[in-house]
Amino acid sequence: MRKESNRRSDQQKKSPGIETETPKKMEGGGAPAPAAPPPAPHPAVAPLAFLLGKWRGEGEGSFPTISPFRYGEELVFSHHPSKPVISYTQRTWKPASGEPMHAESGYWRPRPDGSVEVVISQSTGLAEVQKGSFDAEKKTLTLQSELVGNASKVKQITRAFQLVDGELSYVVQMATITTSLQPHLKALLKKI
Ligand code: HEM
Repeated sequence: MRKESNRRSDQQKKSPGIETETPKKMEGGGAPAPAAPPPAPHPAVAPLAFLLGKWRGEGEGSFPTISPFRYGEELVFSHHPSKPVISYTQRTWKPASGEPMHAESGYWRPRPDGSVEVVISQSTGLAEVQKGSFDAEKKTLTLQSELVGNASKVKQITRAFQLVDGELSYVVQMATITTSLQPHLKALLKKI
């Protein structure tokens, strides 16, 4: 059986995630101490630091074969400074009811040659391997699918992100067995 003191020390071993830091209260209940600056990201991740954090906003979806729709969305790009990788989660919901829509998660690996490799698993069962490039100064990133797995209709997916005036926007295009590559999603998100 584990001792109480062990359990306490396990709880104290929380990893210092970049966006999970909260200001600590001073002993005696005074004003909160200033938040410590986030630790520097892993050097491999630094050029994509503009993505890190939690983003929320709205998007619109369309495709020639479906009716247009709107959605709410939250993206989280998180990172531990000891690892050259960004963890990614996305969830979406119907704006009127909050009912969940599509969700996905994955890992983004910037490479020293300026390329980036991304794997994403979607709530629909579809799996993507994406490769692309980024411009750290312009804060842009583009991805093209190398592999789309377990998909009955989708043949190809591209994703393009850009940060402008502190707002993150993206366009997702897809090609299906019946329709050539064209936009399915676009969204505009603010950092929260
Ligand atoms: C890369 C990500 C995505 C892929 C590959 C994808 C793929 C597809 C495909 C293949 C269709 C059917 C098109 C057709 O029948 O010709 C579709 C329809 C649809 N998608 Fe997506 N989708 C993605 C993301 C999303 C997201 C994020 C949402 C919502 C927030 C969404 C909502 C819808 C809706 C509402 C439809 C139409 C209704 C339906 O047929 O179920 N999709 N999507």
